[in-house]
Amino acid sequence: MKKLIAGNWKMNGNLGQAEELVSSIAAKIQEQPSIIDSYEFLICPPFLYMPAIKDICAKHGIVFGAQDCSVHEAGAYTGEISAQMIADCGGTYVILGHSERRQYHGETSQLVAQKATAAHGAGLVAVICVGETESDRDAGKENEIVGAQLQASLPEGANAENTVIAYEPVWAIGTGKTASSDDVANMHSFICAQLKEQLADSKNLRILYGGSMKPENAHALLSTPHVDGGLIGGASLKAEQFIGIAVAAEEG
Ligand code: 13P
Repeated sequence: MKKLIAGNWKMNGNLGQAEELVSSIAAKIQEQPSIIDSYEFLICPPFLYMPAIKDICAKHGIVFGAQDCSVHEAGAYTGEISAQMIADCGGTYVILGHSERRQYHGETSQLVAQKATAAHGAGLVAVICVGETESDRDAGKENEIVGAQLQASLPEGANAENTVIAYEPVWAIGTGKTASSDDVANMHSFICAQLKEQLADSKNLRILYGGSMKPENAHALLSTPHVDGGLIGGASLKAEQFIGIAVAAEEG
């Protein structure tokens, strides 16, 4: 199974920079084409820039997607983007329930599950994010919190083909702090065990780690058991670092 290296560009850049970044990522892949044998690269730009990266992604075997979608299929929902619209633009993945959406937009796990159902209905793979806050971890509640998020955020019918889990400890996002390999190993094996209980078939369902991943820590994080890839924020905005994560993981 290939590891998934996913870039969440969040609300960064402009059209010219989006085009330039995807071209640089493609050029880096071209420099070492064998990297594609072990890694799948996913880019999630702001919605509006998806059409601008489509052709270059297709040409270089990069997949792309969005950072959110509506729970609704269509209708009077001003400002919303449906899962089908993402698919129409060539997207194949959608990030759902990112902690920034949970925090700033009040998204609940129940809403995330409904969005994931909408994503699956449009044929998209849902990257469902879970993760505890620093105070949850200080209180020793990380498994309880992540377990409850998983329980409520995964819709019926979630499986390895249509769903990816991203474990992103909130305190590690954009802070330069990462969870230790031991903490990541414990959490990923907890998630793996819970998915086994919760889903009819969880075999091969990928579990990504996210939170300040960069080339310097990529090998340790990506060689941890049950870590099937990374969801990368800041370092996905520089081609050298984004591809460098896969290169560093490979080379050690
Ligand atoms: P950073 O890699 O910037 O910590 O962001 C992680 C993240 O939130 C990816 O979704």
